[in-house]
Amino acid sequence: MKLDIDKLRAEAEKELRDAGVHEKLSAWYSKFLGKKGIVRNFLASISDLSPEEKKEMGKKINLLKSDLEKLYSDAFSLVSSIKKDSQITEFYKTLPGKRPEVGHLHLITQAIREIDAVFARLGFVRVRYPEVDWDYFAFEALNMPKAHPARDEWETFFVDLPEDPKMGKVVVTPHTSSGQVREMLKAELPIRMLNISRCGRRQIDLNHVPTFYQFEGLVIDRGISISHLKGVLEYLIHNFFGKDTKFRLRPYDFRFTEPSFEVDVTCGLCGGKGCRFCKGGWVELGGAGMVHPNVLKAGGIDPEVYSGFAFGWGVERVLMMRSGIKIDDIRLLFENNMKFLEQF
Ligand code: DAH
Repeated sequence: MKLDIDKLRAEAEKELRDAGVHEKLSAWYSKFLGKKGIVRNFLASISDLSPEEKKEMGKKINLLKSDLEKLYSDAFSLVSSIKKDSQITEFYKTLPGKRPEVGHLHLITQAIREIDAVFARLGFVRVRYPEVDWDYFAFEALNMPKAHPARDEWETFFVDLPEDPKMGKVVVTPHTSSGQVREMLKAELPIRMLNISRCGRRQIDLNHVPTFYQFEGLVIDRGISISHLKGVLEYLIHNFFGKDTKFRLRPYDFRFTEPSFEVDVTCGLCGGKGCRFCKGGWVELGGAGMVHPNVLKAGGIDPEVYSGFAFGWGVERVLMMRSGIKIDDIRLLFENNMKFLEQF
């Protein structure tokens, strides 16, 4: 049994406050101070402790006992002598107040702020683009023409609104990459963008939810190469996961980057040795690559002069990969269960 004296004190005081008649008061007395009451149980349970601990705990419990007895006898005489309701109020005023609970930021907000802070040190500017966007920015401008099979991967939600002849349908933004061309059209070069936003896809299981967050980096300047991309990824990974985490770029194909990569990091649970979760020691984080010339053109940028890199990862995913945070079901992050959230 864990002896939490403060908790017991708070509980006893609260219940006493709610007990306004004799019968309730005596039930309160037996529960907390009676022969089989909680305070006696506490006293009995410390017999196994070391003599010093026993002495200290004993003192605390006895103090609690005498405080509660005093509160009880005050309450008893008050209830016996009540003539007017206002007297009860007077008595309640003398009881210790109820401490308001102090909340904290949601785990995902904490992660977003941390990611933002890491990139701010490299001069990235935080932006946000619409959570409901045109098909054009989500796919077409990213080198995925209408009906291209690559689009299937994005499990898109379509919004029931009229189609625009040039921009196409309206979609729930399926990835933060939709901000790439918007940024190119808006910002002046060079670009160092960090777009963190909510996205939506038709999917739900241990690793997927219909609404989630991504962060997207985009850098465009003269002479940008893969080594810049690797340097930035290394900075993020070392700051977010720790210096011991290694990473690798694995060839992949995204339509909007060429070459494209998937980025893997060594597993946070086993340190890269290989375990039940990661199997081979590596876990996949997300995509990256060098911006495709067609995407630069869609943004009005000359690919002969400028080049750039981009990467887009899930906020929840990097959070879950972090060692020490053992969350094995992404849905936990969205259930708003206080018992879960209070741990962080
Ligand atoms: N948008 C991609 C997705 O949601 C991830 C991605 C891959 C973003 C490569 C990038 C990139 O910027 O270069 O799966």
